[in-house]
Amino acid sequence: MSKYHFAVLPGDGIGEEVVREGLKVLAAAAGSFGFDYESRHYPFGADHYLETGETMPESVFTEFQDFDAIFMGAIGDPRVETGLLEHAIIGGTRFKLDLYINLRPVKLYSEHLCPLKDKKPADIDMVFVRENTEDAYTRLGGIFKQGTPDEVATATMIYTRKGCERAIRYAFEVARKRAKRKKLTLVDKANAIRAQDIWTRTFAEVAQEYPDIETNHAYIDAACMWMLKNPEWFDVAVTTNIFGDIITDLGAMLQGGLGIAASGNIHPGKVSMFEPIHGSAPKYRGKNVANPIAAIMAVAMMLDYVGEARAAGAIEQAVQENIVSRRIPSLDAGTLPTDRIGSMIAASVAAAR
Ligand code: IPM
Ligand code: MN
Repeated sequence: MSKYHFAVLPGDGIGEEVVREGLKVLAAAAGSFGFDYESRHYPFGADHYLETGETMPESVFTEFQDFDAIFMGAIGDPRVETGLLEHAIIGGTRFKLDLYINLRPVKLYSEHLCPLKDKKPADIDMVFVRENTEDAYTRLGGIFKQGTPDEVATATMIYTRKGCERAIRYAFEVARKRAKRKKLTLVDKANAIRAQDIWTRTFAEVAQEYPDIETNHAYIDAACMWMLKNPEWFDVAVTTNIFGDIITDLGAMLQGGLGIAASGNIHPGKVSMFEPIHGSAPKYRGKNVANPIAAIMAVAMMLDYVGEARAAGAIEQAVQENIVSRRIPSLDAGTLPTDRIGSMIAASVAAAR
């Protein structure tokens, strides 16, 4: 029996409630598929910060290395300075563990969830590979002469050869493993941001090693347009950190909403972090109305990553079945209680084998 070690960081807002349901489904999957695990909880987030003044101690990043994976809920709270906790906890985990891939599948499980007319599950089935350690997220830059008429604010977008090459290479591998058309699209804005020429050139070079993968290119603005007009056109797409952040919220809406979209922050072969892509939705905190499916799908991605592909597949299937049958009629907050959705999916997973 394999024994996994998971670090669990529920965080802020609805984080605790959705993580609880994710863990319920994890327990059901362990029972059905015969693996064993231990989890350790970390209290970091707004409440902890307001009580202690501590965001995320440095020692935690060292401790994280001893786990197989990290399961995170959501970070962010209006009582705390904008971005402070997000940068320390989410950013800290991504940067300090060098989780250079942010893997974001966009998959429609049932036609009725899609806001687009006449689009079917087969039409919306794509994966975004978002670079996760560079771009406008490094906090290079700052504010000068704040509050004066001469105020200047800068934020530098950085791209390294190493950073874009490893993201692009990973994306080619994802495309190769997928059953779909084996097509990889580079999404950038190299016509306006000439620094992104490094992506264009690196993509062309790495493509030489993958003659079996069809490649193409879309500027981010056009990619947003195509996502709505012809989503079936996408298979795997690779893009920069900031564009990947933005376009995957659009992608989440194509699958039915932020209530279902999950992500993996990955350094292949090393401890990686899995989280819903939604935020902490503080207004729903403690109300048992948030949809926990995105956190449950993050658990599925985490299990797939550690090598429990069958358990991951069973969770995905349980989610799909409960949606297709309309037992879970919509992904919007308040449709069904948070704990009830978790129990329904856990029951389906417990019945799977
Ligand atoms: C995400 C989030 C984060 C990001 C925020 C909370 C910093 O929006 O994971 O998509 O921008 O990466
Ligand atoms: Mn985001």
